[in-house]
Amino acid sequence: MENKSAFSLFFFVTLFTCLAAAIVNNDHILLPSQLHRDKSPSSSSKCTAPDPNLNQRPVIGILSNPGDGCSGRLSNSSGVSHIAASYVKFVESGGARVIPLLYNESPESLKTKLSLTNGLLLTGGSAASGPYLEALQFLFQAALERNDGGDHFPVLGLNLGGNLLIKIVADQADVLEPFNASSLPSYLQMWINSLEEGSLYQKFPSDLFQLLMSECLVLHNHIYAISPYKLQYNKKLSSFFDILATAADRDGKIFVSTARGWNYPVTVNLWNPEKNAFEWATSLKAPHTENAIRVTQSSANFFVSEARKSSNRPDYQAVRDNLIYNYKASYGGVAGKGYDQVYLFE
Ligand SMILES: *[C@@H]1O[C@H](CO)[C@@H](O)[C@H](O)[C@H]1NC(C)=O
Ligand SMILES: *[C@@H]1O[C@H](CO)[C@@H](O)[C@H](O)[C@H]1NC(C)=O
Repeated sequence: MENKSAFSLFFFVTLFTCLAAAIVNNDHILLPSQLHRDKSPSSSSKCTAPDPNLNQRPVIGILSNPGDGCSGRLSNSSGVSHIAASYVKFVESGGARVIPLLYNESPESLKTKLSLTNGLLLTGGSAASGPYLEALQFLFQAALERNDGGDHFPVLGLNLGGNLLIKIVADQADVLEPFNASSLPSYLQMWINSLEEGSLYQKFPSDLFQLLMSECLVLHNHIYAISPYKLQYNKKLSSFFDILATAADRDGKIFVSTARGWNYPVTVNLWNPEKNAFEWATSLKAPHTENAIRVTQSSANFFVSEARKSSNRPDYQAVRDNLIYNYKASYGGVAGKGYDQVYLFE
């Protein structure tokens, strides 16, 4: 009671003080009718319409990976698959929503869901063969066809997802070489075209772009990659991919870290942009500095800005019916290892 009346007193004193001030300074207070009085009515309080050529409601398809993503800590079901929530948050932070594409659903179903999207994200993981590889190959082919058909349909292959795209384009199973780059914070060597229109790094603020070349702001976490020499001397790869950035492994060997399609909006990126902001396993050495978080944000801005260029305008309700919000994220990182959160599909 005492608190309440003290508050009321405070409130009335404050109100009175404001009123008194208003009366004294009444020549500085504008009535609503006085606002914008110098402007013509047509120019007042109008917002610029968003660019109608861009899709401001982009949707990204993410392919699920076999297993629970947590070494059986969450589920041992045989048909279970997962998407680490960090990839979903990454896409959301760029201003898009996610539709999960399950690696073990039928090609017809994958195709229907892909038709509701404006871009494809192929995550890191450990599966590199069997039905998972078949689904990835099917979706990649469908994405290229979407582009051939006149849509701008971006594909982002991260870490293993990117390495698998290199294998598919090379049409050679043993095209990758071993590199010593598990859980390796790195800086990058930028190549001549790294700031071209449509390149991942084009969306980076210039100070951050400079820092990428001198500070360890990205995490590599792989044991296979391709050397720039091998990529450039492979006809299939060099006609498809332009190298944007390279990095050194623990032994000083240089590998291709980022590459982009010459003729398709396809980006292969071996470092994981989503981990800086969204993965906290202590065994992983993901950088979490403010600049490292800006790296996550700039990468998300890049990918989603590419998806906004897609002319596909899927039905709102069909999108909502298939969004990842139909599933629950589970906490898998309580042991301090693996993904912090995963979406499970059983
Ligand atoms: C999955 O199997 C492993 C090994 O048998 C076991 O330790 C784990 O508790 C199981 N996970 C669940 C969610 O039951
Ligand atoms: C990777 O690099 C570390 C540190 O230089 C070295 O100790 C290790 O033997 C290397 N591993 C392989 C597989 O070459």
